[in-house]
Amino acid sequence: MSLLAAKTIGKKFGGVIALNDVSLNVEQGEIIGMIGPNGSGKTTFINNLSGLYAPTTGQFIFNGENITGLAAHVITGKGISRTFQNLRVFPNISVLENVLIGLHCRIDVSLWDVYFGFVKTRKIEKQAREKAMDVLAIADLASRKNDLAKNLPYGKQRLLEICRAIVSDPHLLLLDEPCAGMNPVEMDDLAKFIRILQKKGITVFVIEHNMRFIMSVAERIVVLANGSKFQEGTPAQIQNDKKVQAIYLGDEGEL
Ligand SMILES: Nc1ncnc2c1ncn2[C@@H]1O[C@H](COP(=O)(O)OP(=O)(O)OP(=O)(O)O)[C@@H](O)[C@H]1O
Ligand SMILES: [Mg+2]
Repeated sequence: MSLLAAKTIGKKFGGVIALNDVSLNVEQGEIIGMIGPNGSGKTTFINNLSGLYAPTTGQFIFNGENITGLAAHVITGKGISRTFQNLRVFPNISVLENVLIGLHCRIDVSLWDVYFGFVKTRKIEKQAREKAMDVLAIADLASRKNDLAKNLPYGKQRLLEICRAIVSDPHLLLLDEPCAGMNPVEMDDLAKFIRILQKKGITVFVIEHNMRFIMSVAERIVVLANGSKFQEGTPAQIQNDKKVQAIYLGDEGEL
């Protein structure tokens, strides 16, 4: 059984058909890429999957369960985390606090606990900090835990966002253009980071425009065009596919 099966997903915004009958599977443990020209529906696909809004048609089956249209925090609780296309770190709080925010859906403390259960609350807080520090260590950010997020270099801020997304131990991590704005060195760090996450058992779904990056990181790639699935294959198959080259660069183009 696939970790995720997207079945005939469609999404309309008024008269705009953003997604049309998109079906794909994500296998446990893989790094899968999604590419496609601007406006082809990539972000809409993960917005639907992560519960930002519901698809107009179709179903998402995750771990055998129909999660279509559930609220975003419920979907996060089931093990799907994401980052956004535009950078969303909180610039004026610390690096550690930025990661702790990602644990809010897993922390089970009532107001009663806060007022009367000091021991329980302190224990949970300590565990949360330890977990956040473990995640920061993977991104080589542990030594900067007390720095304000805005004082990190741009590439590290993007890694920090991913740290926040993985601190809740997701099964599936969705990344929307994580390379945007990065220099080549930062991209290499990101690629290493994603491979470490895969070794830790996280399945990774990456949307990306940067071809060098996606072709080196993804094991399988789905191509969207005009809201429909256009092609699917290994990086080598996609790179050499004349029709895919054509939708990007015209008939003479190369990826
Ligand atoms: N909230 C919305 N309301 C109306 N139309 C929308 C909305 N979100 C997306 N669209 C439209 O749906 C289509 C797909 O957009 P989407 O953002 O998913 O594309 P994308 O593949 O992520 O593009 P890019 O590579 O530029 O990020 C576009 O035509 C877009 O204008
Ligand atoms: Mg997008």
